[in-house]
Amino acid sequence: MNIVLLGPPGAGKGTQAERMVEAYGVPQISTGDIFRANLKAGTPLGLEARKYMDAGDLVPDELVERIVFDRLGEPDASSGFILDGFPRSIHQAEALDSHLKRESGPLDLVVNIDVDPEILVGRLTGRRMCKDCAGITHVLSEPKAAQGVCGECGGELYQRKDDNEETVRNRLEVYKAETEPLIDYYRPSGKMATIDGSVSPDEVFEEVKAAMDSAGVSK
Ligand code: AP5
Ligand code: MG
Ligand code: ZN
Repeated sequence: MNIVLLGPPGAGKGTQAERMVEAYGVPQISTGDIFRANLKAGTPLGLEARKYMDAGDLVPDELVERIVFDRLGEPDASSGFILDGFPRSIHQAEALDSHLKRESGPLDLVVNIDVDPEILVGRLTGRRMCKDCAGITHVLSEPKAAQGVCGECGGELYQRKDDNEETVRNRLEVYKAETEPLIDYYRPSGKMATIDGSVSPDEVFEEVKAAMDSAGVSK
């Protein structure tokens, strides 16, 4: 089951990936999470990526591609994966196609989560992440979140460094210039499902499951 989650910053890729991992039992591979983990551990990769992430720009293609293709070679990805945040440029999409051709089967489905850009800024500036369970929440959707407490596990919440309004606006510009063209890239394959990401997370997940069913992707 080889899945790509496509969508602008704040579309809900991470939120849906959490649910998909549980329902379908394949790993989520989030390039943003990989970079943030490296940054936290102070690795050279993390320090290199930080230059771009703090500004909301893309990390260079060659660097991201190497990380993703190494990760795809790990045993837990042998029966499939959910790519969250990769590919994000035409170069990355082409590199992924040739990697999959050599190493495993083709993509089964590209889930394109479509959300009106107007609501994305509010979603991102209000997002909070849990230090303990890595859950994703929002100050307006969870009463405890506004007090900095995770509603799932009681852990401490934090805000991503790139979730300030200025960086968010740049991330949205970068999405439009570099990543949105992937919609046209994948459309001719007939393997892309565009779903409405502006409804509630549970309703979006119903649409994701329906798209998986019609693509013949089974558990
Ligand atoms: P990354 O971490 O991938 O960030 P992103 O693409 O900007 O996407 P987000 O994680 O911000 O949003 P999301 O779609 O996951 O939304 P979420 O579910 O959290 O990348 C960060 C940086 O790393 C990049 O800027 C770049 O520098 C670098 N990078 C990463 N990959 C790269 C690559 N391939 N190439 C080059 N550079 C790369 O939800 C957001 C909020 O909305 C949450 O508060 C959530 O609770 C809420 N929410 C979610 N769904 C709903 C809903 N249906 N209704 C209401 N609220 C909702
Ligand atoms: Mg995310
Ligand atoms: Zn938690």
